[in-house]
Amino acid sequence: MKILVTGGAGYIGSHTLLQLLGARHEVLVIDNYSNSSPEALVRVKKLAGSGFKICEGDILDTCFLNTVFTEFQPEAVIHFAGLKSVGDSNRDPLEYYTRNVSGSIGLFRCMQQHNCSRIVFSSSATVYGEANYLPYDEAHSLSPTNPYGRTKFFIEEVIRDWVRSWDGSSAVLLRYFNPVGADSSGLIGEDPTGTPSNLLPFVSQVAVGRLDKLIVFGDDYNTRDGSGERDYIHVEDLARAHLAAIEYSWENSGCEAINVGTGRGATVFETIEAFERASGCKIPFQCAPRRAGDIASSIASVRKAEQLLGWKAKLNLEQMCQTAWNWQKNNPYGYVSTV
Ligand code: NAD
Ligand code: UFG
Repeated sequence: MKILVTGGAGYIGSHTLLQLLGARHEVLVIDNYSNSSPEALVRVKKLAGSGFKICEGDILDTCFLNTVFTEFQPEAVIHFAGLKSVGDSNRDPLEYYTRNVSGSIGLFRCMQQHNCSRIVFSSSATVYGEANYLPYDEAHSLSPTNPYGRTKFFIEEVIRDWVRSWDGSSAVLLRYFNPVGADSSGLIGEDPTGTPSNLLPFVSQVAVGRLDKLIVFGDDYNTRDGSGERDYIHVEDLARAHLAAIEYSWENSGCEAINVGTGRGATVFETIEAFERASGCKIPFQCAPRRAGDIASSIASVRKAEQLLGWKAKLNLEQMCQTAWNWQKNNPYGYVSTV
């Protein structure tokens, strides 16, 4: 298949490229490098041993998009490009609605003009909001609690209406739980700008000596040990889910939202212990009050992914921590370490 990948230089995009290239799909990446480095794509090419096209540009630039679609004529799109910080979205919601919602609508319009009717979209477990029951299945009510989550919710709704209006079109909305880890080569991985806001990148940077200690946000939740519980999913498994989803969209029409997780939760304390075992490094931490907007537990029901995509997570928390550590110790400052 000819697949256009928006945001392909990013964390999840770069790992997904490896899967797509491994399955011999023809790929073109669009990225404006607002939150990534071209070096990630250099390394993907090296690892895959095969090439793909790269067009530097912004999905908000409709002229640019039109040229890319005219020249490449993609049969499907995997849409990663977007902003992803919950905190920034609270500070500047209009930027988030513009980049994520308007940017996506411009992309969909261009797809329609060029008769490209298949899409896999990066959604998030954050669309569910506070849990009425666990694990979350895809029928759980949607009630995101921050502007970032609402951009994902609105884009899902736009895609649903769009697919309903276009016979034969197909969309898979992948609701990621908590993606972590890195490719086992240690050549590509998560490279956040500034101080990480997510747990695993923060812990990795403590281990490598870039940060002093972890602050544990809340030890009084109603969980096994009082700390927040999440369904961490290895980025390699997540990348495989994209391959399964794009192939599903080739065979099927209509719109499906599908959770991507393991169905198992780990608390913050359990994750610290797993990382210590994987790295051999002690992770100093200090408990502090809960972080605003956080929930106690988030765990995916993974039945639908198994049933529709024939996909199941294979890698466990130890492997997530080992590969995250392998990436961090080989690239202590991310992609700039070696550029
Ligand atoms: P990332 O920031 O590493 O990757 C996003 C990529 O898109 C970057 O390379 C960035 O430069 C590019 N980009 C951003 N805006 C663009 C624009 N207007 N035009 C062109 N390129 C643009 O993020 P990621 O972790 O790989 O996440 C990918 C997608 O998955 C995002 O949409 C994110 O919201 C979603 N998601 C991520 C997580 C997570 O925890 N990482 C969880 C749920 C959903
Ligand atoms: N945590 C800490 N200290 C930190 C960072 C996190 O104790 O420095 C705790 C949090 O309180 C939470 C757990 O670690 O209990 C996981 O937090 P993350 O920030 O890693 O992940 P979240 O579940 O809060 O959110 C992430 C992404 C969202 C996405 C969501 C679901 O940041 O964008 O997963 O996919 F929507």
